[in-house]
Amino acid sequence: MEIVAAADSDERGLSLLKVVNVLQRVVVFIHSFTIDKFKGNLQRPSGASQEMPHMGEDDIAAKVKDICQELVLNHEAIKEVCSCLQEEINRGLGKDSNPEATIKCFPTYVRELPNGKENGRFLALDLGGTNFRVLLIELGAKCTMDSRIYAVPQPIMVGPGDGLFDHIAECLASFIKERDLGTELLPLGFTFSFPCKQEGLTKARLACWTKGFKCPGVEGRDVVELLKQAIARRGDVRIKICAVLNDTTGTLMSCAWKNHNCRIGLIVGTGTNACYMEKLEKVELWDGSTDEPPQVIINTEWGAFGDNGCLDFVRTEYDNTIDRESINPGRQLYEKMISGMYMGEIARQVLVRLVSDGLLFGGYASDILLEKGSFFTKYISEIESDKPDDFNNCRAILEELGFNDATDADCANVRHVCECVSRRAASLAAAGVAVLLNRINEESVTVAVDGSVYRFHPHFHNLMVEQISHLIKPGIKFDLMLSEDGSGRGAALVAAVASRSASMR
Ligand code: GLC
Repeated sequence: MEIVAAADSDERGLSLLKVVNVLQRVVVFIHSFTIDKFKGNLQRPSGASQEMPHMGEDDIAAKVKDICQELVLNHEAIKEVCSCLQEEINRGLGKDSNPEATIKCFPTYVRELPNGKENGRFLALDLGGTNFRVLLIELGAKCTMDSRIYAVPQPIMVGPGDGLFDHIAECLASFIKERDLGTELLPLGFTFSFPCKQEGLTKARLACWTKGFKCPGVEGRDVVELLKQAIARRGDVRIKICAVLNDTTGTLMSCAWKNHNCRIGLIVGTGTNACYMEKLEKVELWDGSTDEPPQVIINTEWGAFGDNGCLDFVRTEYDNTIDRESINPGRQLYEKMISGMYMGEIARQVLVRLVSDGLLFGGYASDILLEKGSFFTKYISEIESDKPDDFNNCRAILEELGFNDATDADCANVRHVCECVSRRAASLAAAGVAVLLNRINEESVTVAVDGSVYRFHPHFHNLMVEQISHLIKPGIKFDLMLSEDGSGRGAALVAAVASRSASMR
């Protein structure tokens, strides 16, 4: 500024300034052609503006905040999300409105919580994330567990349904053989974490695939039957399937085993979903028995919230792109703003946008950053785990992504993007929990929570607690409790509670 002021009053100074200016532009121009050589394989993202802004770090940080502002939800917006969700849940539970409702509110047929005295040996299968697990659980005063994780190769996740169930049966057979369990007819709980219309405790028709799965030939079919058929095709395994359940139900049951205030099960992991204990009189949809106790766990399948457009007022261009490029466009829109399968990719898109605008890394992106899916959700947790003025994890991650000379200002801006994405996710999940707490309307309720995002993000728990406190009715107390191994212990408990209820009838 000073130079400009001086030059205004001096003709000769002005011409000199012009020459310097032209020279500067020539240098920037040449630099932009040679930078690849000096910065590794960095490039201007396609569609990036040609003119790079000449701004100081503070101005850049302010511009970054400005661009990220659309990811920030104010209290009014969150309250609006709550009231839409409340309405959609009512539609899901209503007999006539359910067929058109986006939140399906499937009754699970689990109507009793454990009393802590359950015992026995159980097998459990857990399918729902990127891996498949087989577990052997022994319930008694304590719960012991032995388990093995098997990968589900990507081609199986999107290949024919029979292939998936043959794979599950094969893993189960090898587990039984390894543990020498062949002689016992063990009860088995099948945790199948996808939207299913249950027709009983051991009958669940897949409504539609979610997350990364898309096996043709399974939607509309009973997954217990498909598992039995696959086992029969092998002929070397004997099991008794006692229950099929969602991971949210497993999470709730697992926590309720020792905590008698537990009424809600929440997952914020690869996907997001919640279940809660509802009074039968509020479940118009219910066509099962009305015996005591007059309640049933409802698997909300809230991931589909927003699929009718009601969340468009908070969705952004990044959310639209994620959805368009997903394997299930138009579906699971709430889940796509909250869960681990998508959070990293949202952050990556914002980062690419900032690079395009010349606000990050001097306007140059690495090949890796430009690749879809390269910014893992776990990076968000790691970056936000750095202390306020330290960028150790952030810098290590940026190096992995091909940026060897990111400045502190770059790191601070990357962290800001991560914070906006995770805060939005936590606020939206909190809105959901607040709606359920207000529905249940009991004085003190524990929410059982599991899933990699909740478990590993350093602030997710606190962010949710804070947000929920602003949204619940006065007088309700709650706590969020990490639920250990819902898909295993919860499956065993559903099987155990089911056999207890059956024997009492
Ligand atoms: C997806 C599934 C749901 C599951 C959730 C968490 O939303 O549809 O059934 O509970 O992911 O795994």
